[in-house]
Amino acid sequence: MRMIDLIVKKRDAQTLTTEELAFIVNGYTDGSIPDYQMAAWLMAGYLNGFSAKETANLTLLMAQSGNQMNLSKINGIKVDKHSTGGVGDKTTLIVGPIAAACGVPIAKMSGRGLGHTGGTADKLESIPGYQIVMGMQDFLKQIQQIGIALVSQTDNLAPADKKIYALRDVIGTVESIPLIAASIMSKKIAAGADAILLDVKVGNGAFMQTLQQAQELANTMVQIGEKVGRKTMALLTNMDIPLGNAIGNQLEVIESIEILKGRGNKNLMEICLVLASYMLYLADKGSLEICKKLAQQAIEDGSAFEKLRQVVIAQGGDVSYIDDPKKFQQAPIIVPYTAKKEGYISKIDTKKCGIACCILGAGRERKEDIIDEKAGMVLQKNYGDYVKQGETIAVLHTSKQQTLNPAIDLLDDAFLFSECPPEKQILIYRS
Ligand code: URA
Repeated sequence: MRMIDLIVKKRDAQTLTTEELAFIVNGYTDGSIPDYQMAAWLMAGYLNGFSAKETANLTLLMAQSGNQMNLSKINGIKVDKHSTGGVGDKTTLIVGPIAAACGVPIAKMSGRGLGHTGGTADKLESIPGYQIVMGMQDFLKQIQQIGIALVSQTDNLAPADKKIYALRDVIGTVESIPLIAASIMSKKIAAGADAILLDVKVGNGAFMQTLQQAQELANTMVQIGEKVGRKTMALLTNMDIPLGNAIGNQLEVIESIEILKGRGNKNLMEICLVLASYMLYLADKGSLEICKKLAQQAIEDGSAFEKLRQVVIAQGGDVSYIDDPKKFQQAPIIVPYTAKKEGYISKIDTKKCGIACCILGAGRERKEDIIDEKAGMVLQKNYGDYVKQGETIAVLHTSKQQTLNPAIDLLDDAFLFSECPPEKQILIYRS
């Protein structure tokens, strides 16, 4: 088989066989296919598309390209959750402990943040002492003992995806629904859970800007999951507003603690309860209605918060920070971002908020960048709120004075104001 023939085949919009896809995935992973040929093939696929069968095969081949987690030693239905990426999305820190407190084993591997979107691994690492990297035996043992482990993705989880995603990132082929679906699902399948809940974000801070695109991505991923025998469901949730008030690693941990204590941003609480109830539903804990009650109860009786404490202790973190979040050392520069106009906040460009936080130090532009775990912002006003000129919309946290002006310039473009109250935002579009 020759790569050139497979490039031509995709260029001419033909469908590739499983053997041909295996030749490409294996050859690119082991380095025998060079970047320029893989780039040409990916672009041909981006332009001409992939059949459902090709997408499923590509996913499985990428999942099989490295270690596949075997979670069979853990009793119960293991449920994983994946968000397609957003701004201020700290839901894993909340729904993981809720689901575990309700008896669902959580074996969660999370990624790092890149660009305007954050990553759970970075957030957890902002807890002093927290060890995000764990060997397989310890990982399994911890889940058997306390029902949950929150770790970073191992290097050898779907290495084909790692290489292909990095190449797609620099050749303009990220925004392909079959390629995104294959990329996400290859990692989820390799991570070994029995059931997968997908949180597909829609809106100006997400990969998917329209409901139609998001629905197509959700359908493609659900089909792949079902095809390989994993119970899979998807929710479409709003990313036209940041999720909660905090954006930035340590700030988001503090906000998650608030939610687990039953306080804080109502939208974030609602999304977490719905996500958790779907996870419980996938684990056969009852109807969606019963599962939502169970999730609510886990917050009210403190068992979800206690689960977070347990996971922090088990992974070497200093639990006194969870018990008293005021202990987190704040960034040296904390300044208000104030409204330049008066009116109702009628639009928030969530992506610009994410980029502003990235500039303040909370995120990475390139994979090798080092983040400032204290940096970010906390919204004081949100979509639909009325603000007077000069009133504080958000509080900015940074360690670098020179980041303030560029971040503020972006925020000036991120908020629009109107004379009348804007339409209410829908939090969860479709399940
Ligand atoms: N997230 C992924 O893991 N892969 C993609 O292709 C896009 C988002």
